This record gives sequence, structure tokens and C-alpha cells, in this order.
Amino acid sequence: MRIGVAGLGNVAQGLLTLLEENHGQIIAQCGQPIEVAAVASRSRREVDLGGAEFSHDVAALATRNDVDVIVELMGGEGAALELVKSALNHGKSVVTANKAILAAHGDALFDLAAARGVALGIEASVAGGIPVIAALTRSLAANQIERVTGIINGTCNFILSAMSDQGAGFEDALSKAQQLGFAEADPTFDMGGIDAAHKLAILAALAFGVPFDRNAVFVEGITDVTPDDITYARELGYCIKLLGITRRTAEGIEMRVHPALVPLGAMLASVNGVMNAVQINNNATGSLLFHGPGAGGRATASSVLADLVSIARGDRPIRLANSTVTATMLPMAAVESAAYLRIPVVDQPGVFARIATILSDHGISIEGAIQRERAIADRKVPIVVVTQPVPEAVMTRAVAALQALPAVVDRVRRIRVEHAAA
Ligand SMILES: NC(=O)c1ccc[n+]([C@@H]2O[C@H](COP(=O)([O-])OP(=O)(O)OC[C@H]3O[C@@H](n4cnc5c(N)ncnc54)[C@H](OP(=O)(O)O)[C@@H]3O)[C@@H](O)[C@H]2O)c1
Repeated sequence: MRIGVAGLGNVAQGLLTLLEENHGQIIAQCGQPIEVAAVASRSRREVDLGGAEFSHDVAALATRNDVDVIVELMGGEGAALELVKSALNHGKSVVTANKAILAAHGDALFDLAAARGVALGIEASVAGGIPVIAALTRSLAANQIERVTGIINGTCNFILSAMSDQGAGFEDALSKAQQLGFAEADPTFDMGGIDAAHKLAILAALAFGVPFDRNAVFVEGITDVTPDDITYARELGYCIKLLGITRRTAEGIEMRVHPALVPLGAMLASVNGVMNAVQINNNATGSLLFHGPGAGGRATASSVLADLVSIARGDRPIRLANSTVTATMLPMAAVESAAYLRIPVVDQPGVFARIATILSDHGISIEGAIQRERAIADRKVPIVVVTQPVPEAVMTRAVAALQALPAVVDRVRRIRVEHAAA
């Protein structure tokens, strides 16, 4: 099988290395070698292409007669999307690591692949080296998926872990991540939860047959999480993670990315640093946790290679789960979750009682609380409570009522609590 590789960055270089290093294993598994016929990219990086032809003309890869499969490893949307569409239209199978194009155009691309009778391999698009796409589309394909919960952005997990382990502030943890090469120079895409939302949109489409739609994902990033929140959460028995959650409920499918308090004993609580993990709950096996490197050229190339081996063997292309079912999306206002509330108040008698009354008036029960005894110079003290689960809209109204209390002197901070991640 002859492949054309678009892009010559981290993942493409990892792929070239693994194709060489695992040559014997690949022939044993596929019954044929996988050869790189051509590489096309913007710049000619100093990489040994092992005899493959190099060109700057990425689009031309799709029409080459000596290429059977296109591997799109450029990232971005414009040129990458055009290449993938053109390759599929020319009857070539495609393997891509590009979550951005899948999260927006996945349905159209899978339809096109099916119409042309070719494969679209996307294992590398979510959680790097962790075989979570194969788990959803093959290993667990016949099971009813109930929930997928993931730590699917290694940069955010590194930062939250550093804040938790070393007591670092957000900015310090971010610059450490940048120094170590774990964060982009412009980190907004990761910190804002957008990258995780793209991956969650893909997981939801595969798990529940909803359209690939990154705009349907509720997104909140980690920039507002403070070292105080991490300290209070720990006192209450939780750590804070950026989670991507998609869940089937009787009312519809949830799709959300936000920071969340996770019980310290939960499996996901032990996923630290740049590691990723995806927990899949289904009606046959219960809870499964897939843990490993969510990024890195070599680890991600492992997923690309797995798709190539599958195509070389002639495996049937993956099908979209329940694609005949029209799944209803659950609006965020109807999603039920517990909340951690940090309420900065003036230290005066009766404040806690007034807060408890407002929550109770909204039908919200308090599960745990911290009220600092120590006096702070300006007499501001945080009252921290963890509530029972209520619909999002109810919590929003309650937070607005708390915010309007004269004793509340600063913004009420709210972070959702995910007991189901345990
Ligand atoms: N790195 C990871 O750990 C990881 C993990 C999971 C998924 N992915 C996905 O894998 C894909 C590749 O990521 P990467 O980390 O390998 O990226 P990268 O290191 O930035 O490499 C991208 C390569 O594509 C080339 N390129 C970009 N836009 C191009 C265009 N319009 N025309 C021609 N060539 C173009 C770049 O050329 P220049 O050399 O001129 O910049 C570079 O060689 C992305 O979709 C990414 O989201 C990456």
C-alpha cells in the first residue's frame, strides 16, 4: 500500500519513524508493506524521507496515481479540508489527525467516504495515542454507551496538576507548560476549552450518533480556576480537572466541556500532568478507563499507523453509531449537576444563614461547606459550599440571587461537581 503524507511536522515525522522502525511488524499484520510514495508540505524540513518524493503542492497528492491512501497531518481547516475532500472524491482512503475539520464537517466527510466506498480513519484525532475511537466504533460497537467522560486536553491537565501539586498560580503554571513545550505560544485554544470541545464533538458523534457539531458543545475553559479553588476543593475531597462529558439521558444528549470537581478517589482524579484519559460507561462492561499519552508525535503516529494497517488489511470502514437515530441534544440549561460555590462575603453574623436560605428557596441542598474562621484584614472571607445536583438553570438563578446579597462583595465562583466521574 502506498501512501501520500501531507505535512512534515511532529506527527508526520513520528509516522515516518514508526513506519521504518515497525516495518517487520507492519508486514506481518498487513501481509504487505506500507510505503511512503510522496510527502507534501509547506516547508521542506530536514527529515529523511527514505526515498519518498517531496513537493510543496499538497493538493496534488490527491490525484497521484502512485498513492492509494492520503494521510493528512497538516492541521488547520482550509487546505486540510480541501485535501481530504478531494482525496475521498478521487476514491482514495484518508487517514487524518485533524479534529478541527472532523468536529465541523465529520458527517459530510463520512458520507463522502461511504459514497465512494473508501475509508476515513480518525483514530489520531482524539486523545493522541489512546485507541478510543476503535473502542467506540469496534470493541464496544454493539453496546449501549451511557456516558463518555474525558480528560482530553493535556495542556490544561498539566496546568491544573501543577497548580494542585506545586501550589502554582495559573499564569506560572502556564508559562512552565510553555517552557516545556506542552503549550502553544497562543494558548487560548487549549485554555478556553475549544480543543477539548472539538474532541468531545467527535466522541459524542461516535458514541451517540449525534451530528459532528463543535458548536453544540457547551464550553468553559480553565482560566478562572484559582489556587484557592484547588485548595478548597481538596479540603472537601475533590481535585479539579477540565472534563469533556457526553451523556445519554432520557431527555437528550449532553455535550459539555468545563472545569469540574472530581472526587479524589475517582479513577480520573489520578490522571495527572500531560496524560489524557477517557472513561466509557456502557451497559455491558460498566466503566472502562483508557489512559495514556494524548499528544506527542510518536504516540499520535501510533494511532495513524493503526488506521493505515486497518485499511491495508481491508477491514470494513467504521460506521457511525446509530446514524439512523435522530438524537435530541439536551440544552445546557437542563443539564443537572452539583456545584462548588465560592462566595466572597463580608465577615458578619448571619451571612451563612442567608446563603443557606437562598439555596434552600431554590430547592438546593448543601452537601458540604467550608467557612473560614480566621479573620482577614479587610474582613472578606470566602464561604465555600458544595451542593446537591440541580438543573443548570436553577443553579444560575440561585447564583444570581446570591450575587445580589449586600454581604457578597465579589463575584461568586461556581464550578460544577462530577460525582459520576468516580
Ligand atoms: N502533535 C500532537 O501531539 C498531535 C496530537 C493529536 C493530533 N494532532 C493533530 O495532528 C495534526 C498535525 O499536528 P502536528 O503537531 O504534527 O503539527 P505541526 O508540527 O505543526 O506540523 C504541521 C505540518 O503541516 C504543514 N502545513 C501546515 N499547514 C499547511 C498548509 N496549508 N499547506 C502545506 N503544509 C502545511 C506544516 O508546514 P511548516 O513546516 O511550514 O509549518 C508542518 O510541516 C493536526 O491536525 C493536529 O491537531 C497532533
